[in-house]
Amino acid sequence: MEEITVLVADASHEKYVDTILETIAAAAKVRGTGIAKRTHEYLATKMRETKAVIALAGDRFAGFSYIETWGNKHYVTTSGLIVHPDFRGLGVSKRIKDMTFTLARTRWPKAKIFSLTSGAAVMKMNTQLGYVPVTFADLTDDEAFWRGCEGCINVDVLKRTGRKYCICTGMLYDPDEHEGEPTPIELPGEVMRRIRK
Ligand SMILES: CC(C)(COP(=O)(O)OP(=O)(O)OC[C@H]1O[C@@H](n2cnc3c(N)ncnc32)[C@H](O)[C@@H]1OP(=O)(O)O)[C@@H](O)C(=O)NCCC(=O)NCCS
Repeated sequence: MEEITVLVADASHEKYVDTILETIAAAAKVRGTGIAKRTHEYLATKMRETKAVIALAGDRFAGFSYIETWGNKHYVTTSGLIVHPDFRGLGVSKRIKDMTFTLARTRWPKAKIFSLTSGAAVMKMNTQLGYVPVTFADLTDDEAFWRGCEGCINVDVLKRTGRKYCICTGMLYDPDEHEGEPTPIELPGEVMRRIRK
């Protein structure tokens, strides 16, 4: 199999956006979870803003994720993690997650990083990175974040409990608990220059 490269995306990767959206939609259908709505333009903007990570096998799409901030940049999430079925079980999502996590830590070192997930693989990776399970009260109260749950089939549970409980597990990485710890990877100099621009 061709070697898989994981890199911080840029505008040149916009040609993969439709494939990414189709792969996310197909995976959500299989899992029966519903889906947070993301447009072509939204993902393309993430790429242009140095907020997205893509995995490629040659020129074939292998995986993707991006970062976004909430609540006035006090919180950040790594979102939309997807690995194409042809490339699963090879450690690709772990490589992507290490890179999105490093991007988030580098860009907003004081922000808390959180995750709302029902995925076992994601919970395992979050735990390895130092996230701990928390109640929803410890997550952002940014309405825009919670609107992302509208497309999920379980949103009635979230609404019925006044946003206190749902099927997903909330997990939080608090930078104050990890002072001085190195990031999982080092970002290439070219990426650091794009971030600082
Ligand atoms: C979840 C997903 C991203 C995993 O991608 P992947 O590249 O196959 O995962 P990796 O090979 O990098 O595995 C990462 C870790 O998760 C574990 N893992 C992978 N799939 C798992 C599963 N279905 N159940 C439990 N653990 C799993 C691996 O053992 C590995 O742990 P380790 O480092 O301790 O060995 C991929 O299956 C996918 O895209 N699924 C559909 C979309 C989705 O569920 N996204 C997450 C939304 S919350």
